[in-house]
Amino acid sequence: MAPSIGGAMAEFCSDGLAFSPTAKARVAELLGRYPRKQGALIPVLWLAQEEFGWLSPAVLDLVAAELGLSKSAVLATAMFYTMLYKQPHGRYHVQICTNVSCYLLGADDLVRVAVDALGIQPGETSEDGLFTLEAVQCLCACERAPTLQVNKKDYFRVTPAQFQQLLTQLQEEGLRLGPSVGWPGADNCQGALAEAGHA
Ligand code: FES
Repeated sequence: MAPSIGGAMAEFCSDGLAFSPTAKARVAELLGRYPRKQGALIPVLWLAQEEFGWLSPAVLDLVAAELGLSKSAVLATAMFYTMLYKQPHGRYHVQICTNVSCYLLGADDLVRVAVDALGIQPGETSEDGLFTLEAVQCLCACERAPTLQVNKKDYFRVTPAQFQQLLTQLQEEGLRLGPSVGWPGADNCQGALAEAGHA
């Protein structure tokens, strides 16, 4: 099961959290594009997610401080968008479209393959931090159903056998690489802190 938003990662990152110098420069560049700092909120949240893996309470606080916005305004925006993660996600974010076209062409079979292979249900993250599984609405590729995404990569007309093979490959790769950058125990914050001179 996925840990709560106030879980271990928030404690892991809460002291001395800072953007890396590279990300900090990117924040400055984003701020320069908008007449008001609030205009940069979503791109900065996106950047923060790339930097820290997910938007923990500490990361949201950091974004609020960088943009001079209230924490409640930042939280409200983050909560609105499902692509902004309020919980740690696995290294591989598997999204299976279960909307009509994909459903009619076997999306349920793909969900079953993932549940059996990963041992988690849609909406959950594997305990090893490798996989987050979601059943999602239309991925805008209905003519190539059934469709799924892993991270930002699309897969079209996927058969259960092909999906099983893909998951096996990802499991093998994930064992080599370890969990997501945002997973508790991963070194994302340590790395960011070190780059920022805080660790
Ligand atoms: S219904 Fe699945 S991509 Fe549109």
